[in-house]
Amino acid sequence: MTIDESVNIIVSQMLGGVMLHAQLSHFFNFLGLKGYAECQKYRYYEESSSYMDLNDYYICHYNKFVSDDRVENQNIIPADWYNFTRFDVNEGIRKNAIKMGVEKWVQWEKETKAVLEQHYQNLIALGEIAIARKISDCIKHVDNELAKAQKVLLKLKAIDYNISDIMMEQEDLYKKYEKKIKEIELL
Ligand SMILES: [Fe+2]
Repeated sequence: MTIDESVNIIVSQMLGGVMLHAQLSHFFNFLGLKGYAECQKYRYYEESSSYMDLNDYYICHYNKFVSDDRVENQNIIPADWYNFTRFDVNEGIRKNAIKMGVEKWVQWEKETKAVLEQHYQNLIALGEIAIARKISDCIKHVDNELAKAQKVLLKLKAIDYNISDIMMEQEDLYKKYEKKIKEIELL
């Protein structure tokens, strides 16, 4: 596989991640989970920055565009939900939706880690060490994010998706990620 093909797949995966986090943020916001929504919004901003950075790097170092035409929309929000309002959400729907949203997040980060590792290896095999090192930084990032997402999923399983417990932690989570978003904006 050529450098262009590997980088095309990587940036498409990154853009897919940005879209996923935007949708998960809207999804959790709709469910009244402002802490989870802010966490996803933080990841949206952070990963948008990484996506822009890799595109800039490619243009400046390889003097051409990189295509992101392999991006796939994850369609997190079920189509029929567009007919609902937040008042239609009951406890059963909320519980199942939280499970689905967090599982999707974990699954996506696992897939992303595998894609980045595969194309990191390809770039190394092609002797493209400098760009491979940039991808290596992205792998570290996604590896940490995957650990955090799995921790959230394990905690939810441990409390059997108890809505009262989940609602109780939303305010603290919101404040935590609101602060982290402001720190990104200061960079
Ligand atoms: Fe992510």
